[in-house]
Amino acid sequence: MMLATASRAAARAATRSLSTSATAPALKNPGVLKIGLIPADGIGGEVIPAARDAILALGSALPKTEFVTLDAGFEYFTRHGEALPDETVHALQQECDGALFGAVSSPSNKVAGYSSPIVALRKALDLYANIRPVLAVPKDPNEKPSVDLVVVRENTECLYVKQETLTFGPDGREARATRLITERASRRIGLKAFEIALARPRKHLTIIHKSNVLSVTDGLFRDTVKAIPSQHDKYADVTVAHQIVDSAVYRLFREPEIYDVMVAPNLYGDILSDAAAALVGSLGVVPSVNAGDTFVMGEPVHGSAPDIAGQNKANPIAAIRSAALMLRYMGFSDGADRIDAAVDAVVRDGSVLTPDLGGRSGTNEVAAEILKRI
Ligand code: NAI
Ligand code: MG
Repeated sequence: MMLATASRAAARAATRSLSTSATAPALKNPGVLKIGLIPADGIGGEVIPAARDAILALGSALPKTEFVTLDAGFEYFTRHGEALPDETVHALQQECDGALFGAVSSPSNKVAGYSSPIVALRKALDLYANIRPVLAVPKDPNEKPSVDLVVVRENTECLYVKQETLTFGPDGREARATRLITERASRRIGLKAFEIALARPRKHLTIIHKSNVLSVTDGLFRDTVKAIPSQHDKYADVTVAHQIVDSAVYRLFREPEIYDVMVAPNLYGDILSDAAAALVGSLGVVPSVNAGDTFVMGEPVHGSAPDIAGQNKANPIAAIRSAALMLRYMGFSDGADRIDAAVDAVVRDGSVLTPDLGGRSGTNEVAAEILKRI
């Protein structure tokens, strides 16, 4: 019985070991871990301080840690005419070892001169993988979580190349968008997804596509990812399935337990991860990292939530878990485990939660409760 409990606990812990690199990275300034904080808009300014405090609470578990707050976002754009100042990109590239991004507000109608800074940042730092673990916290820690999957979203192309045109034709205005899928980007996101699958107990990868309709673009994505095990023997133990995105959403809601790692082009990955968030209670609990080969930026999956911004209602858990995920990817997995365990304990206890999880507490109280347990 004890053995079964221990092995279940081990299996559960293993679901969080996403990274295969166990050693801490070389810091840009030896002995000092420098983290860039980009709260940006809306609730970003409320949840990023909570994430910073969670990192600080780890104390001597990390090297001496310094933070630098950096500008970006729509509010910044309205004041300064640019959404992503060069100084922010420069500071991240030159000084920081990692970063945490809050959320941006992007107006749904085009505003001249404005372009989403998060999309630009992912490109500028070549953070080509958006890794989004979605994990339910069962009441009993020995119980298998009802949802335990990772969405691995390609982060640099697809429709997010933002090449849109508006012309006039016999049917009135005609809008077109370019959807770019390259073999190189599909291969590197595929490799990332196989690497993540290999480190998880189930070692199962589902390739998400719509190649029944988009046979050229999605066909290239699917076939490129599918070919990886034939080029790399190390992935022989990973089982591979592929599925059309719409039925994948259906099955995700009906039987989330069939999924382990899902790899998808940019837009499908974005939608799938918000959908999966509904299965674990709230967008306010789902973290992500934007990862490249040399830099990692944590970012909650949610947006700037203008409906609750400034009201001390935002759930800080997604941002706090994003800090943990960033640390995990940087090789500080003990610190990451401590933060995740503290969040698990607060969620399980259930008495201090924000309204999105049915609670009555504010952002600050939930953050304080988590800090107390780190
Ligand atoms: P959203 O993710 O901001 O909010 C969707 C719903 O979830 C809202 O009801 C909101 O109150 C709730 N919610 C989100 N985060 C929460 C949290 N931490 N705690 C409790 N409840 C939370 O998406 P929405 O409303 O569609 O977009 C708002 C703005 O955010 C838009 O301008 C959009 O462009 C932007 N956005 C930015 C993203 C980013 O920075 N990566 C991602 C998604 C949207
Ligand atoms: Mg999204």
